[in-house]
Amino acid sequence: MNSARTFRAPGRVNLIGEHTDYNLGFVLPIALDLATYIETRSASDNRLHVHSAAKGEDRSWPLESIADAKPAHCWSDYVLGVARELVRAGVEIEPLHLDIRSDVPEGSGLSSSAALEVSSALALLQGRHFSRVEIATLCRRAETDFVKMPCGIMDQFVAVFGHEHAAIRIDCRSLDYRTVELPGNVEIVAVNSMVKHELGASAYRTRVEECGIAVDCIKAFNPQVRSLRDATPEMIEKTPMPRVVTRRARHIVSENLRVELFVSAAEKKNLVRMGELFNESHRSMQHDYEITCDEVDFLVDAAVGISGCFGARMTGGGFGGCTVNLVHPDFVQHFAETISARYRERFGIQPAIIRCIPSEGASEVEQDKRPSFSEKNSTLLHYKGK
Ligand code: GLA
Repeated sequence: MNSARTFRAPGRVNLIGEHTDYNLGFVLPIALDLATYIETRSASDNRLHVHSAAKGEDRSWPLESIADAKPAHCWSDYVLGVARELVRAGVEIEPLHLDIRSDVPEGSGLSSSAALEVSSALALLQGRHFSRVEIATLCRRAETDFVKMPCGIMDQFVAVFGHEHAAIRIDCRSLDYRTVELPGNVEIVAVNSMVKHELGASAYRTRVEECGIAVDCIKAFNPQVRSLRDATPEMIEKTPMPRVVTRRARHIVSENLRVELFVSAAEKKNLVRMGELFNESHRSMQHDYEITCDEVDFLVDAAVGISGCFGARMTGGGFGGCTVNLVHPDFVQHFAETISARYRERFGIQPAIIRCIPSEGASEVEQDKRPSFSEKNSTLLHYKGK
């Protein structure tokens, strides 16, 4: 039997550029040091076996059934969907046991699903060469075609291409990307509202459809527009379309611009401007795209009034999950204590506070460098209150 190997793929926090990826625009995520780890061993039968430590559940499939696999509407679809895409791309999958562990909190907007997809792809490839862009696009296809979630490319892309010490600015049309260094005197702190409203998945689909309607309306007068990436603020305001569609399109067009402004503010180390753009992005998601909820709106309103916080916004798909905050390093503990106390007082919920450390994208992990999960929580500031 071959010896065990371990593969890792990170979660992410998106700094700015929300819902712009499926509109072929710009995003600026960082990969986190919270990640999914898959340990693999050869299997002696002709099957693929998966075990999830978090769920305490096992699944297994005969290898010859994978090409025509159907979703079972549970966690293992992310693994099986990736396996199916790999087989369809001509990869021969070996009989394997996959043992999955993760410290990316689920349903928190930190992209635990892309971390599972990308770590599964590496685990199933077993070190065989495969283009990294192709890994990201294939994992996204697993999510859109198998899991049936019409997401963009951001999460899978940053899980593959994440960088230590930097955010990555992705052009979601060309898939060109570059690293963006963040100023040294700021920390990125995520606050998990610990809520995820059911509405999320269906509202995400509705937003994708509304953006499609906006493109059709604009195209009638501007045939060169292929996606909202190509639209300008004037086009949005001048094109006759349903009021709600105008607001959705306005968020996307203004958010794409904010990504570019944020990148240039970060390069100039202008923290005040970076913070303002965070706040503007949140208001645009709250009022025009309508993907926030009371809990995250409260967290943002509270954050912007705490000393040392430059700006705050919701991150990820929406309807709960995390906010992301730019905080002066000397004020992180004060920030964590104050926001936790206010949130507990208002909603009776203890939020998890996560110090976000930009980390490397997916890779194989040497056996002696595998993390011990009990020690690997240096990024979590589980502030318990006084
Ligand atoms: C989810 C999707 C991403 C992206 C974000 C919103 O995380 O998976 O593709 O659309 O929402 O920015």
